[in-house]
Amino acid sequence: MTARTTRTLAAALSLTAALAISGCSGDSQPEMTVSGAFMPQPVNDKMAGGFMVIKNDSAAADKLTGATSPLSDDLQIHETKDQKMQQVQSMNVPANGELKLERGGNHIMFMGLKSTPKVGDKVTVELRFEKAGTVKVELDVKERTYTGQAPASTAGNGH
Ligand code: CU
Repeated sequence: MTARTTRTLAAALSLTAALAISGCSGDSQPEMTVSGAFMPQPVNDKMAGGFMVIKNDSAAADKLTGATSPLSDDLQIHETKDQKMQQVQSMNVPANGELKLERGGNHIMFMGLKSTPKVGDKVTVELRFEKAGTVKVELDVKERTYTGQAPASTAGNGH
């Protein structure tokens, strides 16, 4: 087989592979990858915050529209403006981009906890996306001062 034939064959094979991959995920259905998910140990059983980075690995924009967890029957999506948090109905996850839930910024809010998780515990959350459907995530419960990979300057800035 000549080098030229090999190249052509390789190109044909990779094209087939690409088609197979896009065929698998349907009509450009968003795929979410969640990393660095954590919950600072709550002070009491009234509320807790959930933080993570949600990466959209597809060329289609999506929205985080809600979340559920065994820890609370009332999970809300909060943004922080002027150091005050407020509930929003959804948050955009840009195509080939990220939605960052970080201390002092956007977060998942757990209201009325059924228990008070301690450092080392895990909290299961199911995120709901408009297009990608549900994505299950485990939050590691960390020290109250933990900020994940966010700059240290945001430490202690609310939750
Ligand atoms: Cu909040």
